[in-house]
Amino acid sequence: MTNSQNVKNCWTKIRKEKGPDLFVDHFYQSLFIKFPAARDLFPSNIETQKRTLLATLDNMINGIDYIEAIRSEILDLGRHHKNLGVTAEMFNVFILTIVESADFASNSTLTDAERTAWEEGFREMANIMLEAF
Ligand code: HEM
Repeated sequence: MTNSQNVKNCWTKIRKEKGPDLFVDHFYQSLFIKFPAARDLFPSNIETQKRTLLATLDNMINGIDYIEAIRSEILDLGRHHKNLGVTAEMFNVFILTIVESADFASNSTLTDAERTAWEEGFREMANIMLEAF
């Protein structure tokens, strides 16, 4: 992944500005407004899921140059999502909301290149997950 430095810069800005907690709060709030049907897939208390998303982001950002090396784990994650009732359509909204929340949590300081890199990083992961659908 050639844009890994931009993804890392983006995450650094989030850590420096509003922080990961505000990022993840904004993400779920905004996801459920855009896609109310997705709310029912999650347990009523999503605090654990918020931690999981942040841990996934840390892993993704550290491993972004080696995504092919963890392809089989990502495929398993895809199968898990299919079993949960997640649809391919939800991935587009999910990724859009991730980028928007990243911008929000960095006080709108992301450059176009950073936004694109963030989107492409998630798209790459989502495309592997969707192979399991
Ligand atoms: C690139 C896209 C995505 C990534 C990297 C991702 C990552 C993850 C991870 C790591 C977990 C935890 C799995 C476990 O506990 O074993 C999870 C759970 C979950 N994800 Fe995703 N996910 C993505 C897309 C989506 C989408 C599009 C939806 C639907 C709106 C979704 C809904 C869920 C739900 C409902 C759970 C289970 C929550 C729970 O039972 O606590 N995910 N996701």
